Amino acid sequence: MNMVLLGPPGGGKGTQAKRIEERYGLKQLSTGDMLRAAVAAGTETGRKAKAVMDAGKLVSDDIIIAMIGERLGAADCKAGVIFDGFPRTVAQAEALDRLLAERKLSLDSVIELKVDEEALVRRIAGRFSCKRCGAGYHDEFQRPKAAGVCDACGSTEFLRRDDDKPETVRARLEAYRRQTAPILPYYQGKGLLTQVDGMAPIDDVTRAIATLLDKALRR
Ligand code: AP5
Repeated sequence: MNMVLLGPPGGGKGTQAKRIEERYGLKQLSTGDMLRAAVAAGTETGRKAKAVMDAGKLVSDDIIIAMIGERLGAADCKAGVIFDGFPRTVAQAEALDRLLAERKLSLDSVIELKVDEEALVRRIAGRFSCKRCGAGYHDEFQRPKAAGVCDACGSTEFLRRDDDKPETVRARLEAYRRQTAPILPYYQGKGLLTQVDGMAPIDDVTRAIATLLDKALRR
C-alpha cells in the first residue's frame, strides 16, 4: 500500500506517519527529514536546500523529485510507503504518479489532516526532538515521561528546528496555502482524498487514519 499524508506545517504528519509505519509495516519517506539529513551531512543537495528551508520556502521540484525517485527503488520501500511532506506542489504530485507507474505501483490513499492555523503555531512553538534518536516531543502535548530524558533512548539532549521560529512558520504556512493546497483538488479528482480531524488528540487521529487505511486495504 502507498499513501500520502497531507497537511500544513505542524499538522501532525510526522507524528502519525511514525505510528502508521509501525502498525502497517510501511516505510515513512519524509522529504523534510531527508533534506535535514542532507544539510547535516553537508551534501550538495543540503547546501542548496539550507537557505530555502531557513526562509520557510519550498525547495525546487527537481531536487525533491530526484530525491524521492532514488529512494523509491530501495528494498525497505517494497512493502509500501507513507509519503510525508511530499508531494507539495502539483508538479510533484504528477511526478509521483509517473514514478509509481514506472514501477507498476499505484497510490491507494491520500489523507489530509485538517488543523486550525492558531493550533499549528502553538504546536510548532512547543515542538522538540531527541538529539540522539530523533523521537518527537512537545512542551505541552507530548512530554517525555521523565522530564529531560528521552523515553525511547534515555538521552538528555534535545533539539529545536531552525525553521520553527515564528517568522519562518508564517512563511511556511503561506507556502502551504499558495503551493500545496492546490494539490487537494488534484487528488479529489482522482477519488483518492479523504480528511481526518487533526485537532483531535493524537491517539484519536491515529485511530481515524487506521480506519481509512483498513478500508483502502479491503478495496
Ligand atoms: P517538513 O519537515 O516536511 O515540515 P512541515 O511540512 O512544515 O511539517 P512539520 O514537520 O513542521 O509538521 P508535521 O505535520 O510533521 O507535524 P508534527 O507531527 O511534527 O519540511 C520542512 C521544510 O523542508 C519545508 O519548509 C521546505 O523548505 C522543505 N521541504 C520538505 N519537503 C518538501 C517538498 N516536498 N517540496 C519542497 N520543499 C520541501 O507535529 C507538530 C507538533 O505537534 C509535535 O510536537 C507533535 O507532538 C504535536 N502534535 C501532533 N499531533 C498532535 C495532536 N493531534 N494534538 C496535539 N499535538 C499534536
